[in-house]
Amino acid sequence: MLLTCQAGFEPLLARELAAAGRTAMEQGPGWVRADGAAFDEMLAFPHAELMAPVELRGDSVNALAQRVAEFFLASLQGERVDAPWPCVWLGPQEITGLGRRIGAVETAFGELLRRKLSRVAKLAVAEAPRGAGPARGLWVYFTDFGRVLVARDVLSHGQRRMADDDLAPSRSYLKIEEAYVVLGREPAAGETVCDLGAAPGGWSYSAAKRGARVLAIDNGPLKGGALNHPLIEHWREDAFKYAPKAGVTLDWLFCDLVEEPHHVLQHLVAPWLAQRWCRRFVINLKFGRVDPVALLAELRASDSPFVQHAPGFRVRHLYHDREEFTVVGEVAGS
Ligand SMILES: C[S@@+](CC[C@H](N)C(=O)[O-])C[C@H]1O[C@@H](n2cnc3c(N)ncnc32)[C@H](O)[C@@H]1O
Repeated sequence: MLLTCQAGFEPLLARELAAAGRTAMEQGPGWVRADGAAFDEMLAFPHAELMAPVELRGDSVNALAQRVAEFFLASLQGERVDAPWPCVWLGPQEITGLGRRIGAVETAFGELLRRKLSRVAKLAVAEAPRGAGPARGLWVYFTDFGRVLVARDVLSHGQRRMADDDLAPSRSYLKIEEAYVVLGREPAAGETVCDLGAAPGGWSYSAAKRGARVLAIDNGPLKGGALNHPLIEHWREDAFKYAPKAGVTLDWLFCDLVEEPHHVLQHLVAPWLAQRWCRRFVINLKFGRVDPVALLAELRASDSPFVQHAPGFRVRHLYHDREEFTVVGEVAGS
């Protein structure tokens, strides 16, 4: 299996795999090659898992394109392609000049495919499907200029680079936008959101621009598009002391507090989920001062509030996350 992740986080991905009883055999910037025969949707660090990757080598653009085309055509035997299929070319941005190499091989491959199977070539889509889940197509991952790992079946964990918005008051805005993709849902007009640790307001703004009504709780000031937004009410108070009125269930809990994660889990996440104060949640937990792999084990343990009250939850290290995880889910029976 080839697993991709945010560059610099390979050692943590390797440790997460080891905790799951798997072995990382090789790694480079943004990728880890590991044993394992099945996708593991629970893993937090991978952005994508490429099943049974085949290693191909070539010392020129044409040689690599030829090998990839041969692999792809051979793997298509007996398969009918009559719908758009993802044709995704990737590699570490950290290797200078590799992006140009990838582009050149992709173009040469496209020409070879058009000559052999123009109908299939026309259906190629140059990006992974949006959202988390399995997909079949062609993924080509460059580990360096002369070596690629190719696979037909991939599990996407949902992370992706999001587009910024000039009115968004913080880079955090990109995290919540990405979290919606992982969850497969986003706030809708008329829904209610409580945003704990809201300032300067990127998450609140993201919900309000979709027409949701937001209660933003933070002692700090809101800025940019969140400041004086008609759908955002700002309360300057302690997030740990706030609770919705008795009998009220909010559609969304957002929580992005710079606080110790165990404290957030015990004193905020646990009551919010156990009392069903929200239907869905996006919760960011900072792991800068704790062991992230131990924290993941705690999030998945039987006494975790997520396991107990939101069994389908997903923990992800997002494309836009730094030393933090984002947990998304729906509260059971809410
Ligand atoms: C990373 S920032 C949140 C960024 C925000 N999600 C956005 O999109 O702009 C963390 C915020 O948590 C707030 N915070 C930390 N502890 C808090 C607490 N106990 N109650 C309320 N806010 C708190 C800080 O004031 C800070 O504004």
